[in-house]
Amino acid sequence: MKQLLTALLVVIVLSAGAQTSNDVKMKTFIDALMKKMTLGEKIGQLNLPGSGDIVTGQAGNSDIGKKIKEGKVGGLFNIKSVEKIRAVQKVAVEESRLKIPMIFGMDVIHGYETVFPIPLGLSCTWDMKAIERSAQIAAQEASADGINWTFSPMVDIARDPRWGRIAEGNGEDAYLGGQIAKAMVKGYQGNDLSKNNTIMSCVKHYAMYGAAEAGRDYNTTDMSKLRMYNEYLPPYKAAVDAGAGSIMASFNEVDGVPATASKFLMTDVLRKQWGFKGFVVTDYTGITEMVLHGIGDTQTVAARSLMAGIDMDMVSEALLNTTQKSLKEGKVTLAQIDAACRRILEAKYKLGLFEDPYRYCDAQRAKTEIFTTASRKEARAIAAQSFVLLKNANNVLPLKKSGTIALIGPLADNKENMPGTWSVAANFSKATSVLTGLKEVVGDKAKIVYAKGSNLDYDAAFEERAGMFGKTLGRDNRPAADIIQEAVNIANQSDVIVAALGESAEMSGECSSRSNIEIPEAQKDLLKALLKTGKPVVLVLFTGRPLALKWENENVPAILNVWFGGSEAGYAIADVLFGDVNPSGKLSTTFPQNVGQVPIYYNHKNTGRPLEGQWFQKFRSNYLDVSNDPVYPFGYGLSYSSFNYSDVKLSSSSLKGNQTLTASVMVTNNGKYDGKETVQLYIRDVVGSITRPVKELKGFEKIELKAGETKTITFNITTEDLKFYNADLKYDWEAGTFDIMIGGNSRDVKTAAINWNK
Ligand code: BGC
Repeated sequence: MKQLLTALLVVIVLSAGAQTSNDVKMKTFIDALMKKMTLGEKIGQLNLPGSGDIVTGQAGNSDIGKKIKEGKVGGLFNIKSVEKIRAVQKVAVEESRLKIPMIFGMDVIHGYETVFPIPLGLSCTWDMKAIERSAQIAAQEASADGINWTFSPMVDIARDPRWGRIAEGNGEDAYLGGQIAKAMVKGYQGNDLSKNNTIMSCVKHYAMYGAAEAGRDYNTTDMSKLRMYNEYLPPYKAAVDAGAGSIMASFNEVDGVPATASKFLMTDVLRKQWGFKGFVVTDYTGITEMVLHGIGDTQTVAARSLMAGIDMDMVSEALLNTTQKSLKEGKVTLAQIDAACRRILEAKYKLGLFEDPYRYCDAQRAKTEIFTTASRKEARAIAAQSFVLLKNANNVLPLKKSGTIALIGPLADNKENMPGTWSVAANFSKATSVLTGLKEVVGDKAKIVYAKGSNLDYDAAFEERAGMFGKTLGRDNRPAADIIQEAVNIANQSDVIVAALGESAEMSGECSSRSNIEIPEAQKDLLKALLKTGKPVVLVLFTGRPLALKWENENVPAILNVWFGGSEAGYAIADVLFGDVNPSGKLSTTFPQNVGQVPIYYNHKNTGRPLEGQWFQKFRSNYLDVSNDPVYPFGYGLSYSSFNYSDVKLSSSSLKGNQTLTASVMVTNNGKYDGKETVQLYIRDVVGSITRPVKELKGFEKIELKAGETKTITFNITTEDLKFYNADLKYDWEAGTFDIMIGGNSRDVKTAAINWNK
């Protein structure tokens, strides 16, 4: 034992030593390099221009090429192909004075060519290993194609489904969001950034981008510090703690200052409070947009951003064009320019680019490591895990692989929409539609018949806006009634109807806010007609946001929410529909009854007049026209099995100081299928010096249970789990009573109370 401890100590000391010597080596290298750099070359490193049209073979002669030669470019982004990247890197390392390699970024958001579910869907797996693996595969593929830096993970907490970018994040909860942030960073970066199959992550959009007023993209955020620190900042911090190499400033203003010029965010919180050592990049033209925000001309806003703590300027070139002048006029300091330049060079050093600028430019890897059978298999399994079974009356699902199945809907026979928003590197022609997936999975056991049934929307102009980036659904210009009738005719000759409806991929994502979060009317009319046939209907719902599904929940027997499941989604949908995979996804956002309830989230405060008991009660916190309940709460999701929870057993009913509480439940699979269940732990701090949420997620475990099997699940709870930021923004716990709640979603929990004293 003693020997083992000594050996362990030696390993720890050695690795700490290695870390230090690496840091010293890096510092020595960068010190020497920076001594050689002119002011212009230093400022050049801060420049991340748009890549324009870089044509293979002509990189050096392009506009960008000229700037690279002059040492005015630190990196480029969203260039796809190892040949193009190698060609521009060659210009940097052979034709610029100091031969400094460039960093190559891309929005590798949920996979590269092998596309995983959109992040909101991925978050519903509650499976951190799967999420980490998806990032690892994305890194493997992206790095095989020349990329060494990804603008992911996006960890913005969002409670407003009108905001289209809710699709890109992990939902409404800070704890779950933090766990996912960590898993993603680990997946991309691994343990060694200099390996040729790991890439640097860039956490975004810092900060509070998801709290845009009215859910309108780029809109204002105004928030109390308590809410910021307790509810919105934790996932960014979790990513920083996990070692994320870079962070992206958000477009929005926060309390009157655009994030890009916020010293509070970029320096006080990020660097001083959290100890972040990486570099900060702006979002696309984030600097020059501050002119329109109304805080000054280009030179002023550029100087403000640099002095606030921004290191790299994405696209606006304002730092490149104004910093020398600002230095002369005393608006920025040389120390700040040096610090920013150093951080960019450090990132390149950590990625191993000084050692080998072509480390990520192995054309052979590009041929063999992208969109492989093995990765696609994993993506298919992960996609199936992200689907959330919202309703399954009379066990309509799983479907039998026999008889005739009518597949109907504008999203049923379409490849382009399957990967979902922000699938920059995807090859749409390689994605699998639901129709293909279903046909391949049933083979000749069942007959699949198909009709479109409706357009995405009655309004052709809306459909065009919702079909950008080559994701058109091909509008059918016949009268709507004829399109529906055709579908009803084939439905009438079938045993069951699968309706693939909802949003197109570009109805969520950047600048895709909606004021109406229902399924478009044209598709609802189709759904009504299908229900009228009297055949069982399964709604396969595509969406990038929580939708208002009150009517659907009341009228459609089975609803499977499939988000946008990625390149393999067509197969994964078939796997789940036919019961080859038992669904296990759980919502990471609340689904409201209507848009008027928004923002609606599970971890709200109690108010002084909470509604207890039946809705409606006068002079209680409720609405005249709708109850306070969501249609589906946070953490909710069904299975083909059902799970029974015992009462919560606590190791003690009273604890002191740093003792550990164990809370356990027995979970039984009392259905006919083996399945997975995510057991969720919530805590309520009943009395606090500030008001506390009615419950907060503090732990979860995804377990597998065979049909009939029971498992005991135990959570260890310490005072770390009770901490929050108080009115002085001090992170601490307070003695008192705590409700410990465990269940399969945030609404249906078993509760036990504990007194925890100091
Ligand atoms: C988005 C970012 C993205 C960047 C680069 C911006 O419009 O807000 O999320 O990383 O573009 O493509």
